[in-house]
Amino acid sequence: MILVTGGAGFIGSNFVLDWLAQNDEPVVNLDKLTYAGNLENLRSLDGDKRHLFVHGDIGDRDLVTRLLTEHKPRAVLNFAAESHVDRSILGPAEFVQTNVVGTLNLLESVRAYWSDLPAEDLAAFRFLHVSTDEVYGTLSATDPAFAETNRYEPNSPYSASKAASDHLVRAWHHTYGLPVLTTNCSNNYGPYHFPEKLIPLIIVNALAGKALPIYGDGQQIRDWLYVKDHCSAIRRVLEAGTLGETYNVGGWNEQANLDIVHTVCALLDELRPRADGKAYKDQITFVKDRPGHDRRYAIDARKLERELGWKPAETFETGIRKTVEWYLANAEWVAHVQSGAYRAWVDRQYTGRQAEGASA
Ligand SMILES: NC(=O)c1ccc[n+]([C@@H]2O[C@H](COP(=O)([O-])OP(=O)(O)OC[C@H]3O[C@@H](n4cnc5c(N)ncnc54)[C@H](O)[C@@H]3O)[C@@H](O)[C@H]2O)c1
Repeated sequence: MILVTGGAGFIGSNFVLDWLAQNDEPVVNLDKLTYAGNLENLRSLDGDKRHLFVHGDIGDRDLVTRLLTEHKPRAVLNFAAESHVDRSILGPAEFVQTNVVGTLNLLESVRAYWSDLPAEDLAAFRFLHVSTDEVYGTLSATDPAFAETNRYEPNSPYSASKAASDHLVRAWHHTYGLPVLTTNCSNNYGPYHFPEKLIPLIIVNALAGKALPIYGDGQQIRDWLYVKDHCSAIRRVLEAGTLGETYNVGGWNEQANLDIVHTVCALLDELRPRADGKAYKDQITFVKDRPGHDRRYAIDARKLERELGWKPAETFETGIRKTVEWYLANAEWVAHVQSGAYRAWVDRQYTGRQAEGASA
């Protein structure tokens, strides 16, 4: 079995769903259920014996040690993090707590468990750390894309905390021999994306008739990858990655934020036209830019393709269409997230209970 952390968040829940759709290897899913963790993402696994959800913190060494000892996973995949740049600007301490201190505690729990494993299990064990391209800083319009050899130059509290966690993971390999793998991926989009991030925010606001806020001039460039392609890359790195190596993951799809918003608006015009016949792009408004906003990220994912044969399955055109269709078909999920109904449910579910719950 595998232990996934942060498996109720956007990428983690997509990973757990895809993993169990493809094989029967059980998953223990440890998640703190912050505002970003949502058990509704995992509703299709209700009653599925292959999935055990555990409510808790990666920084809780007693809990993590107990889970490792009881379930004896062959791998730990760390998705758990505070992940939103804007929130990191308003409150950086939580980012250091989970992304740095939490990762440190997780590494220490895992190291103790791993070092006691019998020789064969010890050799087969993997710790896979899910990270971001934002650790590399920002690019000018003409710079080559980020390669794994680029210097770390994080610019936001979020990316600095992720960079620190990557360094810890690297050091645990070089110092203690822990069998680690790190992936640095570009911006993801797809189902179950919390509507504080650009693409789901635009879809949700557009349908609600609200303003579509664009930072600055909207010309910040990002590489975008469909979340299920990120999940397949992680599975491939887990399966065949070289220990201690890092792998960049990207979609070969650099786009300015404003172009992304125009694409989403055009898809909504086609799939759910406005009642007044006007275009959704009329709702766009430009707002003051985010402080320290990185201008351009681009990912060179050739190492992953060359060494492990991974390529994204979706183009941006196919992936973004699936994403918009998913949001249109899952209005209830959006409504619950927005109304806070799922938070109320979490509070009811867990107040006064043991940390460990049943399958989600
Ligand atoms: N979203 C992206 O575009 C993107 C791109 C590259 C890398 N990443 C990385 O992928 C990972 C997952 O990102 P995401 O977008 O799914 O984030 P998310 O914010 O949607 O989910 C994070 C999950 O971690 C959980 N969590 C937070 N603190 C925790 C703690 N202390 N203990 C246990 N669980 C905790 C939350 O409850 C939530 O379920 C993060 O490490 C992020 O840095 C994200």
